[in-house]
Formats: sequence, C-alpha cells, structure tokens
Amino acid sequence: MSEINGKVLKHGEQTRTMHWMHMITFILLALTGIGFYFDIGFIGGIFGGEANASLVHRWAGVVFTVGPALYILLNFERFARFMDTIATFTKDDFGWLKTMGGYIPFLKGDVPPQDKYNAGQKMLGHLIIIGCLLMILTGFPMWLWRGVLPAAFLAFCYNIHFWVAVILILAIAGHFFLAAIHPKSRVEFASMMMDGYIDAEISAHHNEKWFNSLQEVKE
Ligand code: HEM
Repeated sequence: MSEINGKVLKHGEQTRTMHWMHMITFILLALTGIGFYFDIGFIGGIFGGEANASLVHRWAGVVFTVGPALYILLNFERFARFMDTIATFTKDDFGWLKTMGGYIPFLKGDVPPQDKYNAGQKMLGHLIIIGCLLMILTGFPMWLWRGVLPAAFLAFCYNIHFWVAVILILAIAGHFFLAAIHPKSRVEFASMMMDGYIDAEISAHHNEKWFNSLQEVKE
C-alpha cells in the first residue's frame, strides 16, 4: 500500500506548451532535414515537393527559435531556476552517473536521491541547449546569407548543421525512449505532455530532493 498519496505539479502550462511546440517543430525539422540530406523524394512528397519541404524546414526553424526565446522572456525566473538545477552537479549526481540511475542491469549499487531532474536529464539539458543554439546559429546564415558568405564558411555551417542534427536526433530518440516507453520512467511523458502532474509517490522516489522541497501535495 502506498504511503504517499496524491499528485504534484511538475511542469507548468507554459512549459508544457513550449515543449509541445518544440517537439512538433523538431520532428518537422528532422524529417525534412533527413529528406534533403539523403535526397529522399518520398519525404519531399509528404510536403508537396522539395521546394515546399524546404519552406517548411525554414519556417519550422523560425518557430523553433522564437518559441523558446519567448518562453524564456516570459518565464525568466523559472528558466533561471531550470538552468541553476541542471548546472548543479553534486556527489549525488556523480553517484547517479556511476549507477546510471539503475537503468543498466549489470551496474549495481544504490541510486542516490535526485533533484527535479536526474544527472542524466541534466546532461541532456545541456546537450539540447547547446545543440539547438548551434542549429540556429548555422541554419539562419545558410538561409539568409548564402549569397554573401564565403563558400568555405557556408560549407562549415552545413557540416556543423548536419553533424549536430545527427547528435540531436540520436539524443532525442534516447530521451523519448526513457521518457515515454521505459517502464521505470514513462510516467514522465504524460506529466510533460498532458496535465503537468505526476504521482507524488513516484516523485518522492525518483526526485526525492525536489519532492522534499515542495510545500504542497495536491490530493
Ligand atoms: C534541431 C533542428 C534542426 C534539424 C534537426 C535540422 C536538420 C537539417 C538537416 C539534416 C539539413 C541537411 C543538411 C545538409 O544537407 O548538410 C538541414 C538543412 C537546412 N536547415 Fe536545418 N535543421 C534544424 C534547424 C534549422 C533551423 C533552426 C534553421 C533556420 C531557419 C534551419 C535551416 C536550414 C537550411 C536553410 C537548410 C538548407 C536546406 C534548405 O535550403 O532548405 N535548420 N537541416
């Protein structure tokens, strides 16, 4: 029998809206990007031809950039708290990494208590922020200044854009697997993509430090 009842709010409405928008635009960007790179006519066909796929890619890139920028402006304190959490690595985080949070069967040992985000999620947070910035910083010059930039710099942008896309697609596939499919953590998906709430008991176990810092538990 559970000793901790009820639910706690983990992700606010604006955070969830931003996450939805970033997920949809990321899927569009990754799909059309893969279509360009491998010259896959079928993917172009989904968008009504290559030229349209290119337009979808560029304008999805605009939403992908403006959405989080607006979110940060409107929720600066919340964003600063998020950055503070993912930038803080204590011995408990290193302990999580040593045991890989208990996700890998042959890595034995107790998993230390975690913050609102565990050490793996903290590292992913950095990777996503740096990766998205690189995609934006290379994508816009490839679109807007391709006629004026030196060919070598443009080629450099294309290379960074491609290789960072590969890393992000693989990292986000792993993130999706853990957050939506893995039995140990799949409740996270519903919390971020639906009402923002998560079972208090699960939270007390997976995010003990954060849970202990909460004042209210919604019954
Ligand atoms: C994480 C998000 C993104 C992913 C996964 C992605 C993926 C890709 C890939 C794989 C390519 C093909 C690269 C090559 O041929 O070497 C590409 C091309 C391109 N990307 Fe992105 N991209 C993203 C974000 C952006 C953003 C934010 C912009 C800015 C508007 C952008 C603008 C472009 C442009 C202009 C091209 C050249 C193809 C074209 O002219 O339509 N991308 N992208």
